[in-house]
Amino acid sequence: MAVRVWSSKIQAQRIVENLSTAVLLLGEDLCVRHLNPAAEALFEISTRQAQGLVLGAALPGAGVLVSILHQAAAGARAYTERGVEVRLPPDRSITVDCTVTPLSDSGKTRSLLLEIVQVDLPLRIAREESLIAQNQATRTLTRGLAHEIKNPLGGLRGAAQLLERELPDPALQEYTRIIIGEADRLQALVDRMLGPNGPPRTGPVNIHEVVEHVRGLIEAESPAGVRIVRDYDPSIPPLAGDRDQLVQALLNIVRNALQAVGERGTILLRTRADRQLTIGARRHKLVARIEVVDDGPGIPAGMQESIFYPLITAREGGTGLGLSIAQSLVSHHGGLIECTSRPGHTEFTLLLPLPLPLPPESRDE
Ligand SMILES: Nc1ncnc2c1ncn2[C@@H]1O[C@H](COP(=O)(O)OP(=O)(O)OP(=O)(O)O)[C@@H](O)[C@H]1O
Ligand SMILES: [Mg+2]
Repeated sequence: MAVRVWSSKIQAQRIVENLSTAVLLLGEDLCVRHLNPAAEALFEISTRQAQGLVLGAALPGAGVLVSILHQAAAGARAYTERGVEVRLPPDRSITVDCTVTPLSDSGKTRSLLLEIVQVDLPLRIAREESLIAQNQATRTLTRGLAHEIKNPLGGLRGAAQLLERELPDPALQEYTRIIIGEADRLQALVDRMLGPNGPPRTGPVNIHEVVEHVRGLIEAESPAGVRIVRDYDPSIPPLAGDRDQLVQALLNIVRNALQAVGERGTILLRTRADRQLTIGARRHKLVARIEVVDDGPGIPAGMQESIFYPLITAREGGTGLGLSIAQSLVSHHGGLIECTSRPGHTEFTLLLPLPLPLPPESRDE
């Protein structure tokens, strides 16, 4: 009998630990007792860090839930509040439905069970799915277009070179040089439109090696007034991917941040691991998050929806290809790039699903 009680307790615990819904257990005094992994991931805090602290102190963004908890405790019955806006670290807010259930022991309330369900998630999934589909469609279109331009371009340049040699008056060479120069410029543009060539070389990738490599390249380009701050989660395991493609994707984003801040500003490179995160319609157990935050002027308001399309640029001399290439490289890895921006705070987030931990021998390759 004792064995059966023990195993059903373990089973209940396993169910709670594997739920994608955030579940918190609080004392009557509203002190945190336990968070399931989904709650830890949502609020970016471990049970160990939160335990014993009152809810408002442990999770400042969830302070709005305090009055709901009090009402449930006072009424000693389950209480649900819909459409509550909760702030999440570092600077996000989500809409949730929460249910508080007082757990009583012989009629006396002992603890409160708080369930939090994110309700803006289906909306986000639909948006992400359409973003991925749109990106694939536009990439196919631009690649097709680039191929069509590339073919006659070589002939055009070759003919201009031949013509240059035949010209009787050297002064006329100014015109052939313009043709050759512009053909070279177009060639560079279509090469970028075609993106990296060759099949992806998939292997174990250490995300921090990628971020540090990009940081080194950007540091070398940065004016003295630009500060690059790092905030890494060293526990992120390696992912399976093409290291050079991920460097390219991240470099495009960090270079944009550098161009946005100009002579003076701060760029933050942050890495985190998210559990049970959906990208498009797929739910992943573990996802690496690389955030690039800058304090530049932000993306112009009318442009925010279209920045991932090719040839969209607000920068003098920009080709508008950097983000579309980055999005397509990341989507080859099953991931997604998200962006939020307001003046003084622009945040690009690369989400990359992580496979189950790699066997030790493949990590050393
Ligand atoms: N961190 C940022 N802050 C402000 N605006 C940004 C930021 N990142 C991107 N943008 C805007 O998005 C546009 C598109 O960026 P994208 O990298 O695709 O092209 P680009 O930088 O203009 O040209 P390139 O192809 O050389 O990268 C930029 O022109 C800029 O207006
Ligand atoms: Mg760019």
